[in-house]
Amino acid sequence: MMDPVRNPFAPGAGQRPPELAGRDRELTAFEVVLERVSRGRPERSLVLTGLRGVGKTVLLGELRSMAVRRGWGAGKIEARPDAELRRPLSAALHRAIRDLAVRHRNPERVEQVLGVLKAFALRANPDGARLRERWQPGIDVPAAQGRADSGDIEIDLVELFSEVAELAKDVGTGVALMIDEMQDVRPEDLSALCAACHELSQSGAPLVVVGAGLPHLPAVLSASKSYSERLFRYVLIDRLDRADADLAVLAPVSREDAGISPFALDALFEASSGYPYFVQAYAKAAWDAAPSDPITAEDVAVAAPEAEAELAVGFFGSRYERATPAEREYLRAMADLTEGRDEAIGTSEVAVYLGRKPSSLSPARDSLIKKGLVYSAERGRIAFTVPHFGRFLLAREE
Ligand SMILES: Nc1ncnc2c1ncn2[C@@H]1O[C@H](COP(=O)(O)OP(=O)(O)OP(=O)(O)O)[C@@H](O)[C@H]1O
Ligand SMILES: [Mg+2]
Repeated sequence: MMDPVRNPFAPGAGQRPPELAGRDRELTAFEVVLERVSRGRPERSLVLTGLRGVGKTVLLGELRSMAVRRGWGAGKIEARPDAELRRPLSAALHRAIRDLAVRHRNPERVEQVLGVLKAFALRANPDGARLRERWQPGIDVPAAQGRADSGDIEIDLVELFSEVAELAKDVGTGVALMIDEMQDVRPEDLSALCAACHELSQSGAPLVVVGAGLPHLPAVLSASKSYSERLFRYVLIDRLDRADADLAVLAPVSREDAGISPFALDALFEASSGYPYFVQAYAKAAWDAAPSDPITAEDVAVAAPEAEAELAVGFFGSRYERATPAEREYLRAMADLTEGRDEAIGTSEVAVYLGRKPSSLSPARDSLIKKGLVYSAERGRIAFTVPHFGRFLLAREE
């Protein structure tokens, strides 16, 4: 039997894969961004977009590590619907300042910036005085006054970003702020964020915001600020092609001194369609099912139900659970109409299919968008954010 302890595969949200396959282009592009920005040159930052489970979070984490390895200060936020940005942003920048403090020669200057950060952070929750008293940002310096504490998020962001960028400039690097699930940033915060990035890039300050989110994120950004296309370069993170999907499996297997047959690779690609989450899930199950080395196509076939059961719970089920009965009816209609293919469908078709007025379905649709289960692919059309979700829904109701 193959040793289950040595199984290298890692299905799971944000789980670092044993081999980050097929992302060289993005990594190289980010190298250029880091280099140019630290030299004060204008450069668009990256925004990664793609369906669920294609590896956006993992790639964002890798970009962050790249920045840190170059001596940058870096921090990360996961945006949540309806949550204000101030607190998570404070925590992320606190992290970035600590990265920079290690290399900075003037501790007093670092403390000044921390004081500004604290003042910014303490402005959180203006509508809940009691909450505000209870919440402490955990920054061990007195809050400064008169910088980044006006309560106007746009003004405060510009001031705070300038301070932190200045600190990075002192040590010859920059600041990278990673924002995952960026489509969930509240509209007023998103617009302030774009404005602040715009202003900082014009003054050549070394700060970049790197975003990741669902396929409609570019539309959300351009609705927020018309100039967002000049701030960000949109990079579509897609499923892996055959060569990269093979590499994602082969490299970790050989590092464990094990083998896998070419037919097994065929079978794995057939099952995963190259979607990174599925690659990990099927490869993990195949390793565990293999009675001996190398892993064969038969092992992949034997393991498939196990992998699918795991996916039904961890990947599809956890999302389906979040939908209300009315939303499930909507999802099911989408699955029926697309016959389980990953395609967009007209919202009016869904209404006709369910025999309802389009306006009466808007609440269910809007709430599914908010929950990140579907997205508006283009005007009047809707698609699943989760690959193979339609197929999953059809299978479970048979
Ligand atoms: N380039 C890659 N090569 C191989 N496996 C990968 C790659 N990128 C991600 N994975 C694997 O895919 C899975 C999903 O990755 P991740 O959570 O980053 O996706 P995501 O796009 O952020 O999904 P979601 O939209 O649900 O947040 C993880 O198990 C990860 O190990
Ligand atoms: Mg993610």
